[in-house]
Amino acid sequence: MTTAEHIDSLQSFEIRERDVFLVTYPKSGTIWAQNIIALIFELDDTDETIYENNLEKMPWLEYPEGHSDYVSRPSPRLFASHLTPALMPRGLKGKKAKIVYVARNPKDNVVSYFHFCHAWTSLETPKSFEEFLQQYLAGNVGGSSWFDHIREWHTHRDEYSILFLTYEDMVMNLFEFISFSIILLYLYGLTLPMLVATVLPQDLRSAVVKISQFLGRDLSEAMLTHIIEKATFKNMKKDPKANYEFLPEDLLQKGKFLRKGIIGDWKNSFTVAQNEMFDQVYQEKMKDIPFKFIWNIN
Ligand code: A3P
Repeated sequence: MTTAEHIDSLQSFEIRERDVFLVTYPKSGTIWAQNIIALIFELDDTDETIYENNLEKMPWLEYPEGHSDYVSRPSPRLFASHLTPALMPRGLKGKKAKIVYVARNPKDNVVSYFHFCHAWTSLETPKSFEEFLQQYLAGNVGGSSWFDHIREWHTHRDEYSILFLTYEDMVMNLFEFISFSIILLYLYGLTLPMLVATVLPQDLRSAVVKISQFLGRDLSEAMLTHIIEKATFKNMKKDPKANYEFLPEDLLQKGKFLRKGIIGDWKNSFTVAQNEMFDQVYQEKMKDIPFKFIWNIN
């Protein structure tokens, strides 16, 4: 999907003040954050910037096929990328443009990636989860090592104007869900449907607010509600601009980008032994990283 020449050429890719880059390791919630950012900029759309779908609106920097207009696009240009800092345009280091980085718990990440390999036809289909897990831990998968990706971006964070978010930041956890539901049920007497409508998108709301503030976009309450509604898993799955079902079936099986969209699915795939082994590798690889990761991977 790309060439070494294209990746090399990105070093001198000219960066503009209003460029926005979404950077992720594959299967970390890229198309979710892509949809949120595309929606944040929706109000500015002119005939020139209304694109058929999110891939057209926010193309991948490293996969230029079909997007020969990177230089001529009007600002703000939106780009997605799975690249590590060393391969990104040098001009980004001037903190001119903004980068939103989304990370995901690697255990859920590897499970999502494993399923994706069965759906994306040009990826090798793993023989078993065990085999894929070993490849993933060794960094022998597209996007290279999850550990290196996180390490590189976090270590170099001061050189960029960057917002770090996690997939998990965007989804409410069970404890928060239950506590918040109890408060609303008992204190405010909300009915069940009202409760679900109020509670479910709460963390998505804070994530959208964080992203929009970072991008310097002041969103009205109505716009915020509109974005949150469009970015829920259920609604994104139905949205032809966002669900990637526009890709030809000989490339990707329909409906496979938005698979389950939950936290903790790894528990359905890992054996106890695989979990212990993963924890060991995680401790080893992350031990010298000077920050505590936002989540407990278990
Ligand atoms: P699962 O395979 O665990 O379901 P990427 O876009 O980086 O390839 O990541 C894909 C993962 O993000 C998939 O995870 C997909 O379901 C999840 N995802 C995409 N949109 C989502 C949304 N609106 N809410 C929750 N998860 C979402």
